[in-house]
Amino acid sequence: MELLKEKIKQEGIVLEGSVLKVDTFLNHQVDAELMHEIGRTFEELFSESGVTKIMTIESSGIAPAVMTALRMRVPMVFARKRKSLTLREDLYTERVYSYTKQEESEVTVSRKFLAPSDRVLIIDDFLAHGEAALGMARIVGQAGAEVAGIGILIEKSFQSGRGKLLELGYRVESLARIASLDGGTVTFA
Ligand code: G4P
Ligand code: NA
Ligand code: NA
Repeated sequence: MELLKEKIKQEGIVLEGSVLKVDTFLNHQVDAELMHEIGRTFEELFSESGVTKIMTIESSGIAPAVMTALRMRVPMVFARKRKSLTLREDLYTERVYSYTKQEESEVTVSRKFLAPSDRVLIIDDFLAHGEAALGMARIVGQAGAEVAGIGILIEKSFQSGRGKLLELGYRVESLARIASLDGGTVTFA
């Protein structure tokens, strides 16, 4: 997606440890118009996939996920990282390890919001090692539902996530694929 790649080129800042900072339009301030275009793009890509629900993890996946849901006219549900007040037996729970942050978190979704009949499109802001997407896919599996596809805004193609997801047979669509952040420069795949 050229619009997203332009935005990354103009506003992205490369930090230590191959981290791309995009807080001017995605991870802190949010460019709603760009998110709407992103939602439109995912709608086009997955229009034939029978999607009944969009799923992401709080917090930065929510903006693009809700715009995709708006375009596709289906509900969006986000997995929560914080402890919920809901009884544990009412929740699907998965552990997700972050290599970037070197910490494990527990993510949960209420059983009310996923049914075996659902075909779920997973949306996330970044794909690095794929652990967040895999955690969401396991929650979809727990519900007896199907993963219809995985839509990513920014894929760090030099990390292992894409390979892991493809190996499991998932369709992965990334709107910007970054081959390298070496030397503080963004090089697209
Ligand atoms: P993985 O899910 O693909 O394995 O990725 P990883 O654990 O490495 O990522 C952990 C968190 O760091 C995620 O955000 C992810 O979106 C974010 N992240 C990974 N690489 C980058 C990067 O290069 N730049 C930025 N800005 N973020 C990156 P999170 O912990 O879920 O936080 P939130 O922002 O969604 O609240
Ligand atoms: Na995220
Ligand atoms: Na993030």
